[in-house]
Amino acid sequence: MGKLDGRVVVVTGGARGQGEQEARLFVAEGARVVVADVLDEQGEALAAELGKESATYVHLDVGVEADWQAATAAAKDAFGKIDGLVNNAGILRFNELCSTPLEEFEQIIRVNQIGCFLGIRTVAPEIAAAGGGTIVNTASYTALTGMAFVGAYAATKHAILGLTRVAALELAGRNVRVNAVCPGAVDTPMTNPAQLDPDADPVAAKEAVAELYKKLVPLGRIGRPQEVAALALFLTGDDSAYITGQPFVIDGGWLAGVSVV
Ligand SMILES: NC(=O)c1ccc[n+]([C@@H]2O[C@H](COP(=O)([O-])OP(=O)(O)OC[C@H]3O[C@@H](n4cnc5c(N)ncnc54)[C@H](O)[C@@H]3O)[C@@H](O)[C@H]2O)c1
Repeated sequence: MGKLDGRVVVVTGGARGQGEQEARLFVAEGARVVVADVLDEQGEALAAELGKESATYVHLDVGVEADWQAATAAAKDAFGKIDGLVNNAGILRFNELCSTPLEEFEQIIRVNQIGCFLGIRTVAPEIAAAGGGTIVNTASYTALTGMAFVGAYAATKHAILGLTRVAALELAGRNVRVNAVCPGAVDTPMTNPAQLDPDADPVAAKEAVAELYKKLVPLGRIGRPQEVAALALFLTGDDSAYITGQPFVIDGGWLAGVSVV
């Protein structure tokens, strides 16, 4: 028995990083998963690897309304219903607020915040129609505190917590639970771009990351995308049946306070 037997879950940004690990874990726990992303080649390859009984890939730019309609239709075509959504897709840009071009600020809002809103608005009625289910929004450590040079990103992640709480209130009566994960630093291409750089020395890059997070994070290391996937599994499955509207921090203790050891 898997923890997600019989479930059909859409994972946005599912082609790599945390979304990829969520897709892998959810399939291992018995779900059928719709991998949705703009990285078509990687998404197709992942779905093929997971097998067509268990996974399908759809092209979905989360900031584009029409893409959501098409992706929802494709998901229902493949698996008959949708009863779970992980709003995981996101982008990060570094800039001082006073130097951030409006276009960049708007682009981050479009993907992170509007993407999450469109996901809830499009998919929640489908989940309700399927008899209920779950939405997991991917916020961040920066949804709960500030971090220099990521102003636009932090603003969208704060907004995702607002959306999560309101959606939980409005959808509870339709048996749809809505929660958020708030990861600290996780070892994916977003936080560790050396993973994508063919010229980077993988050993040196790994050592630099290890050195940095050993100092910054009380548990002494960067997080693993599999660990965030395990939290998303908890919030998608019945183990969290009485939980809705909440942010869940997964950060190795980073937010707990100032460490003096
Ligand atoms: N890695 C971290 O340290 C960290 C920390 C806190 C929160 N997060 C959040 O976790 C989520 C996953 O990030 P990740 O670390 O796996 O990064 P990642 O960059 O490896 O993966 C992001 C995925 O989202 C996809 N994506 C980007 N724009 C999209 C769009 N418009 N439509 C559909 N898909 C799109 C990308 O193609 C990619 O597959 C993001 O929301 C990110 O903000 C990451």
